[in-house]
Amino acid sequence: MKEKVEALKNEILAFSATNQNELEQFRLRFISRKSVVGELFNEMKNVAPEERKSFGQVLNELKNTAQDKFKELIASLEKGDNGFDENVIDPTLPPSDDKLGSIHPLTITKARIVEIFKRIGFNVSEGPEIEDDWHNFSALNFPENHPAREMQDTFFIEKDPDIALRTHTSSVQVRVMENGKPPIRTLSPGRVFRNEAISARAHCVFHQVEGLYIDKNVSFKNLKETLLYFSREFFGKDTKIRLRPSFFPFTEPSAELDISCFLCNQKGCNICKYTGWVEIGGCGMVDPNVLENCKIDPEEYTGFAFGMGIERIAMLKYQINDLRLFTENDIRFLKQFRSVNW
Ligand code: PHE
Repeated sequence: MKEKVEALKNEILAFSATNQNELEQFRLRFISRKSVVGELFNEMKNVAPEERKSFGQVLNELKNTAQDKFKELIASLEKGDNGFDENVIDPTLPPSDDKLGSIHPLTITKARIVEIFKRIGFNVSEGPEIEDDWHNFSALNFPENHPAREMQDTFFIEKDPDIALRTHTSSVQVRVMENGKPPIRTLSPGRVFRNEAISARAHCVFHQVEGLYIDKNVSFKNLKETLLYFSREFFGKDTKIRLRPSFFPFTEPSAELDISCFLCNQKGCNICKYTGWVEIGGCGMVDPNVLENCKIDPEEYTGFAFGMGIERIAMLKYQINDLRLFTENDIRFLKQFRSVNW
């Protein structure tokens, strides 16, 4: 009989309840009148009279143990305790998920672009994301009533004087020219903002890398060579470039930069829309007005500038078809770049 009581006591002490159902099972087994403990009390009558007293004590102790445990179980369930002891390490548990981070594809792309231009003497410059009208527009030769200044493109923070989120990182180049002397060879990567509806192809926040080279005798040929060098280093050694005439207020002449489609080798695919070429940015010779605005003598110096969208380049390189993926932080997307070498 003693062993039976001892075994029950151990069972009671070891019991754990993680929900109401288990608590009820405990109650039925050890507390209710028909419980095993209750039945032991019924057996009193079969115990020899001289042993009844001590047996009664043992049973009462068991009953108290059960009741104390019951209170304890109720209290821990109310606390939301799941019975897990954090001090106990269970080496048999399977390891938790692999939560290793990865470098964001835009960071990889930016770093690669910067690294290529650093090799040919470009440094990196940064500037504020909140800009005044002068650095974002006026110094860059935007006429007073140019449509790009209007609300549809620019997020204005204040009017008169105009303060806005920069619409391109050309604003950084103005700051570099104002604060330094040629020769200037600088690359300005950064976040830019335009008031555009978000879709697979457009976003109101995106990233650019702009480049600026100012020195004596900088020519359009230098611009072309620099862009060809970059395109081959980044997209592959057989890449060809094409410059199409275009317009920007701050460059003259201006051009759009296309590269030969490296996905189909110019045979035609849906990325290059069967033209064999894909556009990656704009470029041109710095307009003399811009140099003058930045206190650089256009008679002595010339320069070229170019600008590229980092998202666009990353999308081409990694064949990403939706711009929104860059900002959604979906781990399934991001972890694909874990092994990308930069
Ligand atoms: N700033 C231009 C843009 O944001 C790109 C550009 C830079 C074009 C430099 C020409 C020269 O679209």
